[in-house]
Amino acid sequence: MAEASAPAKAILLGEHAVVFGEPALAVALDLRTRVRIEGRGTSLMVNGEPLQDKLRLPHVHHALGLTGEPWGPLAITIESRVPGSAGLGSSAALSVALVAALLQQKGLAPSPRDVARLAFEVELGVQRGMASPADTSTSAAGGAVLVDSVEGPGLLWSFERSGRRWFLHRLEAPELPIVIGNTGHRAPTGEMVARVAQGVKRDPAMAATVRELGDLARQGTKALAAHDVPALGKLMDRAHEGLRKLGVSTPRLDELVQAVRPHSHGAKLTGAGGGGSIVALTDKPREVSEALKAHGCMPILTRVTPRGLEAGP
Ligand code: MEV
Repeated sequence: MAEASAPAKAILLGEHAVVFGEPALAVALDLRTRVRIEGRGTSLMVNGEPLQDKLRLPHVHHALGLTGEPWGPLAITIESRVPGSAGLGSSAALSVALVAALLQQKGLAPSPRDVARLAFEVELGVQRGMASPADTSTSAAGGAVLVDSVEGPGLLWSFERSGRRWFLHRLEAPELPIVIGNTGHRAPTGEMVARVAQGVKRDPAMAATVRELGDLARQGTKALAAHDVPALGKLMDRAHEGLRKLGVSTPRLDELVQAVRPHSHGAKLTGAGGGGSIVALTDKPREVSEALKAHGCMPILTRVTPRGLEAGP
């Protein structure tokens, strides 16, 4: 039997821009996905529900291929506390935990770097080639991660794809309280990324916004290094405006961001947008939660966790 777990993530600054080589700042959240594999029968259980066809979960299909088919009998059990299609890296957490458990089942003891690389490949398969390694590497590494196109201090690993190179760095981060407001509207990441990519190709103003978002992530890295959480929050507020300009916010995301701002250092949509969630950086999590509830949204109170990929029960 093999078992592995991996955390969700929230991007604090730089989503979408990171796909074009700009930096992004992401943190692992204290919400985990756990995968257990047994070499008997053939079944796939997701949160207690059986799935008949393994192809119905593309992650499983891609991960099986990347970790060395042919496979014999496999019973895969997935338990996840990460809401799906909510901008919280449910797909990345699943890819990381699944790849790690499959490699373990083959008798290997993979490093977080090896798992992050293969999980990135799984994401590229699932998102039709449009993904950065931000989500998968943050899930594998835990804590706070800076993704950049240039190498800097704290390098974890780097990956290359289609002429683009991403350097993943470890950042020191306190266990910041984070409140998530999930709109419950699902928006597939691949589609959102493709839509932004088309816009950036056509419209120089959108390309400029992508660079601005990258610049906010650079400033955010400095704010985090200086433990200046209020400054980090202000940058997040500005990033939300940039993401609006890219067309990935929605009226509901804007409403929730406005609702929590009075109690937050900063708040913005997180992840691909088009639905999904907002993230609030706050030292008043209770007030933020109440504000979300008053707007008909169930809050998720969590925090930045140093725990990344963990193998074994
Ligand atoms: C999704 O969580 C983040 C995006 O930047 C896509 C990616 O980096 O793969 C929108």
